[in-house]
Amino acid sequence: MNNKIRFPEGLPRTVIPLKFAQSFHYPVCFTRDVFNTRNPILIDTLKVKNQPRARKIMVMIDDGLTRQNPQLLNDISQWFEHHKELVCLACEPVVFPGGEQVKNSWDHVHRATKAMNDAELDRHGVVIAVGGGALLDMAGFSAAIFHRGIQLVRIPTTTLAQNDAGIGVKNGINQYGKKNCIGTFFLPAAVINDYGFLATLSFEHFIGGVAEAFKIALIRDRSFFSFLEKNSVRLKQRDPAAIEETIERCARLHLDHIAHSGDAFETGSSRPLDYGHWSAHKIEMLSGFSMGHGQAVSVGIALDSYTAWQLSLISRAELDRIIAALINCGLPVWSQYLAITDTSGRLEIENGLEEFRQHLGGRLTFTMPDGIGQTCERHEMDFDIVRQGIAFLKNTWGDAGRNSRITETIRQR
Ligand SMILES: NC(=O)c1ccc[n+]([C@@H]2O[C@H](COP(=O)([O-])OP(=O)(O)OC[C@H]3O[C@@H](n4cnc5c(N)ncnc54)[C@H](O)[C@@H]3O)[C@@H](O)[C@H]2O)c1
Ligand SMILES: [Zn+2]
Repeated sequence: MNNKIRFPEGLPRTVIPLKFAQSFHYPVCFTRDVFNTRNPILIDTLKVKNQPRARKIMVMIDDGLTRQNPQLLNDISQWFEHHKELVCLACEPVVFPGGEQVKNSWDHVHRATKAMNDAELDRHGVVIAVGGGALLDMAGFSAAIFHRGIQLVRIPTTTLAQNDAGIGVKNGINQYGKKNCIGTFFLPAAVINDYGFLATLSFEHFIGGVAEAFKIALIRDRSFFSFLEKNSVRLKQRDPAAIEETIERCARLHLDHIAHSGDAFETGSSRPLDYGHWSAHKIEMLSGFSMGHGQAVSVGIALDSYTAWQLSLISRAELDRIIAALINCGLPVWSQYLAITDTSGRLEIENGLEEFRQHLGGRLTFTMPDGIGQTCERHEMDFDIVRQGIAFLKNTWGDAGRNSRITETIRQR
């Protein structure tokens, strides 16, 4: 309501136009061995001036991570013992299942908020969430609603969480068959990316985050795309220098968007970074989440890149380069879920387009490349082109053996 509204005579009318600004900031750090007592990053993040007593901290941790790193809980307890003057564990670290299951019901949010309450965390308490993007989304949501928001430090432990899911301002859980249907925008106090955790990831979860790097490079940064293309085989081989540069450059592009787009809390009707995501979300759902988000995004990028070529936004040579680079990294460009139909014979992915429209709420908007590294928005998706794209991906890249032969051919061109 603004104060220019005309009111009928005789009705009471008072409008106090309220406007205020607050500046937001938080550090995103890159390190190794975060729980080594000689590494100062975490304790520096938690220290506050003139602290009367040790701060109460609760740790929420991903069981996929603790299973692969059996010494981790011990390292955490030693780290707290070492810094006991400044911080204390409010309770034993609370372990949650990792992966999408932790977001699929309210149960874990109830467990998390109950643990915070039992541990008597007050408004100055801190939650340290350690794990993949799914755990961080659930833990972040729980921290955001407990006492209307207590401090949250995220320690992302997958590639995708370190370069995308864990560094931004969103959280959420899945409800009513929709991803992230319940959630908030909530800023962390800090994010600490520890590259050491990547060593125990499965290949799927290691490489999944690289798809997000392609996503943002293709619409924002041509030189970053060239870097990914040039280093695709090194990335597939889990080369530490290549993955660390990929994560950091990708994180910088995401953070730059949050800080400078003017729409950090996504009030507009577009998702300016979500290239390839409209179909990716549907593919993930259709697979019952057996397909990782990053893998689904890779397929979504391949599909939208076909459309971009058909719309003359990129050249055929550029389409081939994108697909070859994804495949050389070990990412998929085809999924059987693209071809699934509903009972009326309609492609499920077309239903995904409708769901995307509903999710955006406003005008249907797709982010597309305008040449590699530049972005443009389209407000329509010609489904005939999408169908052709699906057939193209299936016929050309539909089985793994063929993929590698064709990639080889493209590389040799
Ligand atoms: N909030 C956001 O802005 C945002 C952005 C993008 C994606 N997301 C969400 O992120 C989630 C995907 O996150 P993800 O790709 O990190 O996967 P994930 O959280 O599903 O984790 C994948 C698997 O890896 C395990 N794991 C985590 N760290 C490990 C480690 N270091 N070693 C071994 N195993 C480890 C987990 O237990 C899990 O089984 C999705 O739910 C997606 O919706 C959120
Ligand atoms: Zn994504």
